[in-house]
Amino acid sequence: MALYLITGGAGFIGSRLVDALLADGHHVRVLDDLSSGRRTNLDPRAQLLVADASDGGTYAGAARNVDAIFHLCAITSVEACARDRERSRRVNFKAATHAFDSARDRRIPVIYASSAAVYGAGSDLPLGESTELRPVSAYGEDKRDSEFHARDAGRTYAQPSVGLRFFNVYGPRQRPGDPYSGVVTNFCDKARRGEPCVVFGDGGQTRDFIYVDDVVSALRFSLSLAAPEAPVFNVGSGTPTTIRKLAECVSALGGDAAAPISAPERIGDIRHSLADIGRLRSRGWAPRTTLDEGLKATYEYSRRA
Ligand code: NAD
Ligand code: UD1
Repeated sequence: MALYLITGGAGFIGSRLVDALLADGHHVRVLDDLSSGRRTNLDPRAQLLVADASDGGTYAGAARNVDAIFHLCAITSVEACARDRERSRRVNFKAATHAFDSARDRRIPVIYASSAAVYGAGSDLPLGESTELRPVSAYGEDKRDSEFHARDAGRTYAQPSVGLRFFNVYGPRQRPGDPYSGVVTNFCDKARRGEPCVVFGDGGQTRDFIYVDDVVSALRFSLSLAAPEAPVFNVGSGTPTTIRKLAECVSALGGDAAAPISAPERIGDIRHSLADIGRLRSRGWAPRTTLDEGLKATYEYSRRA
């Protein structure tokens, strides 16, 4: 049985990874400052260190004796990163460099969360990993620079890693309520209250939605792919869904109490986003959860919350 460090382990994706690893009998240490994560997300069997991962000494201490690091902590709101560029740099880039510094003596694998945000807008779809990176946000830039750093650490110290570019992740435990929480969570939250889903713009924009358990399986699968070449992989479903269709599906789960309504388009919204997931698929990973199944599970969670 292994001991894993999961930074951001009290968050949406991290806490689901914690559950999966504990279920298989592994030991888990979580480093999380609880800025957006919650103690209640965490299985009490996980060891929780409440501290800032952007402090190098703290990070190194948390990584002592672990067999691998899953680096997931981040400020995930693009808005918040734009408002406080300095903090985004510290948490979304600097803390990632600490992951590599803490791993390099023993060359334990680092699996870290990147994002589809590294691609920016305007490239041909589907987005393959060799598409030019043109991030349009501080958040995207810091994720891109974390990937560059991973490659550097691979060249310099033969440090093995994998970067995963998550597309639009959804599922239980994503936080509803603020305008920048994920659209699936926002829609489920509305539907359970019998309120209409609010579609920004004409609803013809598309996203590649990936269920959180499939992201967890990609994270775990990546342990076998970690290498000094610092490979990166898209993690999506490979299927486009319009926001209009999403609103209809979620409204139906709520018993069609209220039909979706329209609101003005979000400024700077990307029109289409779609992953080419061929690279990770060819290594043996595939998403398993259909959108219908994932939406049902997310809606049920939101109803009970
Ligand atoms: P989340 O906000 O639920 O989790 C992030 C966690 O990091 C939280 O528990 C938060 O408290 C913690 N954290 C933040 N700053 C910290 C710090 N300085 N020190 C220690 N802990 C800190 O978000 P999530 O959706 O679970 O995202 C996990 C990772 O996946 C992030 O790196 C995010 O950028 C990436 N990602 C997520 C999505 C998505 O759709 N959810 C898409 C692309 C990439
Ligand atoms: C997502 C990420 C962002 C990342 C970006 C780039 C989230 C929450 N955001 O943004 O961090 O930089 O991918 O890959 O995961 N919408 C509605 N109604 C709502 C909410 C949203 O119609 O109530 C629409 C939006 O206008 C957008 C789509 O739904 O067209 C998806 O929105 P959202 O879930 O916020 O994600 P992205 O904008 O794709």
